[in-house]
Amino acid sequence: MKKQNRRSFLQFLGRTGLTVSAGGMLMSMESCASKEVAKEKTKEVVVSNFPLQSISHSLADELQLAEGLSYQVLLSWQDAISDKDTFGFNNDYLAFVPFDKENPTDGMLWVNHEYYQSLFVSGFPDQKDNSKKTKEQFEKEMYCVGGSLVRIRQKEDESWEVVQDNEYNRRLTGRTPIPFHWDTPIEGATSAMGTFANCSGGITPWGTILTCEENYEMFYGETDITDISNPVRDHGGNYFGWELQEDNPPEHYGWVVEVNPLTGEAKKLVALGRCAHECATMHELPDGRLVVYTGDDSNDQCLYKYISTRPRDLKEGTLYVADTKKGEWISLKYDEQEVLQRHFKDQTEVLVRLRQAAALVGGTPLNRPEDIEIDPITGHVLISLTNNKPKGDYLGSILKIEETNNDKASMTFEASTFLTGGEETGLACPDNMAFDPKGNLWITSDISGGSIGKKQYKGFGNNGLFLVPSVGPHKGQVLQIASAPIDAELTGPFFAPDGKTLFLSVQHPGESTKRLDKPASSWPNGNGEIPRPSVVAIQGQALSDLMNYMG
Ligand code: FEO
Ligand code: CA
Ligand code: CA
Repeated sequence: MKKQNRRSFLQFLGRTGLTVSAGGMLMSMESCASKEVAKEKTKEVVVSNFPLQSISHSLADELQLAEGLSYQVLLSWQDAISDKDTFGFNNDYLAFVPFDKENPTDGMLWVNHEYYQSLFVSGFPDQKDNSKKTKEQFEKEMYCVGGSLVRIRQKEDESWEVVQDNEYNRRLTGRTPIPFHWDTPIEGATSAMGTFANCSGGITPWGTILTCEENYEMFYGETDITDISNPVRDHGGNYFGWELQEDNPPEHYGWVVEVNPLTGEAKKLVALGRCAHECATMHELPDGRLVVYTGDDSNDQCLYKYISTRPRDLKEGTLYVADTKKGEWISLKYDEQEVLQRHFKDQTEVLVRLRQAAALVGGTPLNRPEDIEIDPITGHVLISLTNNKPKGDYLGSILKIEETNNDKASMTFEASTFLTGGEETGLACPDNMAFDPKGNLWITSDISGGSIGKKQYKGFGNNGLFLVPSVGPHKGQVLQIASAPIDAELTGPFFAPDGKTLFLSVQHPGESTKRLDKPASSWPNGNGEIPRPSVVAIQGQALSDLMNYMG
């Protein structure tokens, strides 16, 4: 580490009020040193009664956890969840909604299924000529994305089990009809076929799920509106070629979708706009109106905020885009912006072409805004900016938005950097975040599969799960708590209400696999089997102790 870097990092800590100890610094500087050496250093410098201690970076094909934690595999791709449905591929966002808040040990687990490797799902070689894909192969691929609703409950020994429940367990897939929650048809239709690219999400105060369609262009392509008067279907960046099977318009995807976890009823929330939504993070104002923060996860794209006109309304409201330089929310209301009136025919078109509209009104391009969480202690809004390689930002950061007077309906805010990826923190490419019931921040990293262990990412090991404690001797430090199997990303961290179980997705293990007889990862079953994306439940004395830890 260069001295200058260390000095500026300490200045940053001073500004944000974070603290750091020699232990944290040494652990975070630990790069590709062996596990044994790292453990020795941990013993030397970290002396505290804090329940969790950092593990070292690893490139092993294992889900490694800090001491005092263990995991059970709850659901894997292709597991039966009812008489007729099976669990989908590449699980991402998770949300547990108990049937009874007073006894939150039995309820519905929602799971996003974002995308897939054709090789595993349909046997079709990845990135080959999609015109050779059979109908049966397309059907397998269309089935494996969307979401799963699965009843789970806690047993007497506190482990969790899947309940094969034909009443509640179901799938949303690439073929499920989903209406638009909007009065004007979208590309002539009031309903879309299916949902996919379901990345991260959110939960509403009334217990429904928000699942976000992110990289939708991988399925049906996108409409090129470089010349707005002459929109052209563009399949150039397309990967799965679904338009060869069902020619659905790209405009039917890229929405936030609200799902009722009991009935599976879903609707696409047009009012929140159409882009590569990573997540949707909701806050209810004292008067019942809603504020929803959402980011467009692509290089140089923007951060948005929706404010409803009426309590609990996800249809009538105003969408704003962030100018993070001036600290202002800019309205995307058609009636208020002359520049939008010049380029678009109405509010619906503004929402469908959100990226272009945001650029026209002056939204600030950001380094891939991913997950968003509201700090339950400070009320600050944290936004992961995972990276922006063309701009030279390889390791990412977390942006902090402080709304004026901490009022989420405010039109002004202060923006600053909460945390930077790098050797000092031991974290690269922050992505999903979650606060546990004690207000500790948990972060997962998203170094893309092909980059792990190489060039700028050398020394960071596989992707991981990290903890930033809110109290105690490690307050503000970044501790690594888990290391993912080969090629995988840990996603969707979600705590059970008592904080003693952390549900976590292990997404895309072995995604670089080219031949089924030579899988790049065999997690979780081992023995040379093909990998299976899975949801795990992490528990252990260390997590129970963390929930009782007072600092
Ligand atoms: Fe699907 Fe932005 O992660
Ligand atoms: Ca993500
Ligand atoms: Ca990501």
